[in-house]
Formats: sequence, structure tokens, C-alpha cells
Amino acid sequence: MKDDTTSPSSLPSLTKQLASSTLQESPGVPVVDLSVYDEEFLVRAVTKASEEWGVFQVVNHGIPMELMQQLQMTGKQFFELPDAEKETVAKDGGFEGFKRNYLGGIKNWDEHLFHRLSPPSILNYKYWPKNPPQYREVTEEYTKHMQRLTDKILGWLSEGLGLPRVALTQGIGGETAEYVLRINFYPPCTQSEEVIGAAPHTDMGAIALLVPNEVQGLQAFKDEQWLDLDYVNSAVVVIIGDTLMRMSNGRFKNVLHRAKTDKENLRISWPVFVAPRADMSVGPLPELTSDENPPKFETLIYNDYIDQKIRGWALEDLPVYGEV
Ligand code: SIN
Ligand code: FE2
Repeated sequence: MKDDTTSPSSLPSLTKQLASSTLQESPGVPVVDLSVYDEEFLVRAVTKASEEWGVFQVVNHGIPMELMQQLQMTGKQFFELPDAEKETVAKDGGFEGFKRNYLGGIKNWDEHLFHRLSPPSILNYKYWPKNPPQYREVTEEYTKHMQRLTDKILGWLSEGLGLPRVALTQGIGGETAEYVLRINFYPPCTQSEEVIGAAPHTDMGAIALLVPNEVQGLQAFKDEQWLDLDYVNSAVVVIIGDTLMRMSNGRFKNVLHRAKTDKENLRISWPVFVAPRADMSVGPLPELTSDENPPKFETLIYNDYIDQKIRGWALEDLPVYGEV
């Protein structure tokens, strides 16, 4: 089987990455204005960005500014609570919950909170903070916008692949697709040259929709170098994950990315991961393969794919991002 670019051996040298954190001027991760009333333009713009970069930012996405501010405020308030209070939603064996993760060096440097957002049948509110009290209402409202925006983006990307609008949404299981929120809290770090916030990784799911606070830190690896994603006020960062790369038979790029720590400032990010249910089969969409264009990736049960990827990280003793 031809492996994808997520295999550990294809990750560039981590030490080299950290050493070369001075970057050339960013040639610019694409920013797509969704208020443009031209569907064909939007199909072309997001498709090209997903093929060439695997990451782009969207503005005028229809998520009310006020809701984004509330999301950021409630998240920050949670992490500012005393440890004992945060521990009330601590992880207890699964990936959901709160965890402190100050591993240092090229390992991760963060505290985070992970919990599912959808579908409703699998939610476990035990991992949703009770404090601040408006956390649940704000997060539920935000989830609706995440679903609406995901459907739009997957619709444009499906059309970009020459498929019906619903192809990718259906391919990840339609309403059964899982939405998971992770809030990353990266306190200022005096050794920010040596200590990474989130270690280099590609996301496993289909897409992630990420909102950062105003402290720059997210970087994408392109053309052999790390590029800063400029902070764009009220933008949502769209990150293409392994699943879309595999479903598109390699047309879309699963971008390698990482987050730096900052010497002076607190950085927080709110990625929402959209992924197929664990028991779904995921592989190149049959419409995209032929005798001349055979599948480049094996079709696997999503859970087996995740296991395989995590085992690969462990074998190489690479810093793991995610379920740690
Ligand atoms: C992530 O890749 O999910 C975290 C990146 C960030 O904090 O910006
Ligand atoms: Fe990520």
C-alpha cells in the first residue's frame, strides 16, 4: 500500500524544525471571503486552497461576532479557574475531558479540554464545564454554526472534485459524523524557542475549523518550510485532515501544522474536528478512481486508521498530538 504523508517517516526532522523557527515572509495562506456571491468562485477558491495548501482561512462566514467572542470568553474563563475546579471535568481514560500537558521540549506544552459536540446521541455532558454557567448554551449555539459551515465547505469541495454537493458529507457519514471541540490553552513560555505548543502533526479527521485568539502561533509546513498563519480578525482557519486527503485520493492535501508557544502572551485556540464515526469505512471515493487512476490509499475502518497512525507515532517516539 502506498502510505499517505502522515506516516512518521515523512515528518521533517523535528529538531531542524524547531531550530529554524525564523521564517521567510509568509507568501500567504489563502484567505477566502465567503460573502462573495458567486458559488463557482467559491468552489474554485476552496478547492485550489485545499489542493495546494491544505489550509486556508475564511472570513464573512456567517458566525456572529458576538458568539465568537462569547466562545472565547467562556473558554478562557474555564482555564482561569483553580486547578481543582478544572479537575472536575478531568479525563478518566478516554480522550474527552481536561488535561494538563506540559511535556516541554519538542513535546506539547498546553492544557486542553476535549469533548464531543455532535451527534447528540453520543454526547457526554460530564466533560462539559458547569462553570462558567453559560458554557453549554454558548457551545451548543456555536456547534450549529460549525455544522452549517462544514456542510458548505464540504459541498464546495465535493463540487471541486466534480461530484454532487453531498458527496463528501455523505462520505463521512452525514448526520452521524462526529464533531469534537478541543480548547488549547498555551500559557506564556519563557523558553518558547525550544518548547513547542502543539507538536507537528496532520489532523486525522476530515476537516478542522479553528478559531485562535489574537496571539499568532499556528504554522503550516509548505515547500520545505514553516509558514506563519497571519492572525486575521474573526477568521476561521480551515485545516484539511487525513480523511479528506484519503477520500479525494490524494487531491486534497493534509497539511502538516504545529503551534508555537509565545514568550509573553497567552495563546488559546478552539479547533473543532469533524470526523467519520469510528466504525465507518474510509478510503478513496469510488467515483474518483479508475483503472488509469487506481486508489492510492487502502480503505480502512476509521478506528483502525487511527490506531495505525498512533502506533506509528509511538514506534518512532514522536511527540503525539491529540489523545495524550
Ligand atoms: C491544532 O492543530 O489543533 C492546534 C493548533 C493551534 O493551536 O493553533
Ligand atoms: Fe491540528
